[in-house]
Amino acid sequence: MTLAVLHAAQLVTLTGPQRARVGAEMSELSIIKDGGMLIRDGVITQTGSSAEIEQAAPPDAERIDAGGRVVLPGFIDAHTHPVFGGNRVEEFQMRARGASYEEIAASGGGIRSTVGQTRAATEQELRAKGLKHAQWFLQCGTTTVEAKSGYGLSVAEELKMLRVIRDLNSGSPVEFIPTFLGAHAVPPELSNEPERYVDVIINDMLPAVASERLAEYCDIFCERGYFETATSRRIMQAATAHGLKLRMHVDQLTNSGGAALAAELGAVTADHLEQTESDGIQALQRAGVQPVLLPGSVYALGKTRYPRAREMIEAGLAVVLATDFNPGSSQTPSIPMVLSLAATQMKMTPAEGVTAATVNAAYSLSRGDSIASLEQGKLANFAIFDCSDYRELAYYFGFPQTHSVYVRGERVFQPGG
Ligand code: NIG
Ligand code: FE
Repeated sequence: MTLAVLHAAQLVTLTGPQRARVGAEMSELSIIKDGGMLIRDGVITQTGSSAEIEQAAPPDAERIDAGGRVVLPGFIDAHTHPVFGGNRVEEFQMRARGASYEEIAASGGGIRSTVGQTRAATEQELRAKGLKHAQWFLQCGTTTVEAKSGYGLSVAEELKMLRVIRDLNSGSPVEFIPTFLGAHAVPPELSNEPERYVDVIINDMLPAVASERLAEYCDIFCERGYFETATSRRIMQAATAHGLKLRMHVDQLTNSGGAALAAELGAVTADHLEQTESDGIQALQRAGVQPVLLPGSVYALGKTRYPRAREMIEAGLAVVLATDFNPGSSQTPSIPMVLSLAATQMKMTPAEGVTAATVNAAYSLSRGDSIASLEQGKLANFAIFDCSDYRELAYYFGFPQTHSVYVRGERVFQPGG
């Protein structure tokens, strides 16, 4: 079956080098005006002007009239925590009254609060919530989502979370890519002997996760009071020995040299980086680590120090933007919201933002050869937005402009039906 998409005011193809984009390349979106594309069996076979596509389309092709709207590749959200029990709306209110994230965590709330609620939930309940969140991602134009465990913090509960993440793939058109985050916090029952928890991660969790092939990546919350540098190094080296690639939460609340550690360990990504200074940025550059910037978490925590995106782009880093969707520090599944924050708070242009949340995100997840640009041979994962210039996605904010979303050429979302 052939599908012909026609009359996109802008077909934002992101055609370019077959690798993550750096520097000025991040501003080049390869837009086709009044563009269209042909899709066969879920794969893009041709892009071009609407006239060219009309001419090339077989007579029986199904036609999708984009009606002067904008067509982009589906967004790739490279950092999320989408499976969790309950919520933290009480803590949100406490923060509105002046308490800080760190104070709430120190008094037993924070990540541990979600751990309690996640342990109390059945696999079915977590799956139902995960599917609801999958629908939220689609509604924002996102078709691929990296998903972390990390609210179980025991062998059985972490495996439960990873199975839920795996099984979301059969219940939703969104592709979920699993990351093991056992080292998210020390669970309450081991708070007096954190070293024992590190042993559980290294000796019990990692072998089980690897042998059941439940994760592609291993992550850690490298932070004062969570996992210090030396401990983080041990855990991540063990993960590497089990064949897992590394993504790391570093330098979010304090600068502990996390960026340098991610560089030393050859991590694929270093995420957050709010406190990272020039030396850390240089270390990432030398080691080819991709920074994943999460302005939604700075915003939602009511903080003001955003990562130094401009310095990173100027240093030639292949910057990624993601939501960090989670119940504690970033309660948004919306990449367009992140594009807005990136523009206003980090001075990234909408074009740089789009590159960071499509091609660069896909390469950080080893998916760059199959998704994230609209060109021949790529999967037909795309979103149509109800605007005529892609920059409107970052310019208007706080509501979805999504018109419809397609995965492998099939429509999987349309508001109201
Ligand atoms: O990326 N920093 C650690 N992890 C999450 C927060 C998780 C939570 O508060 O539940 C983050 O911000
Ligand atoms: Fe996170």
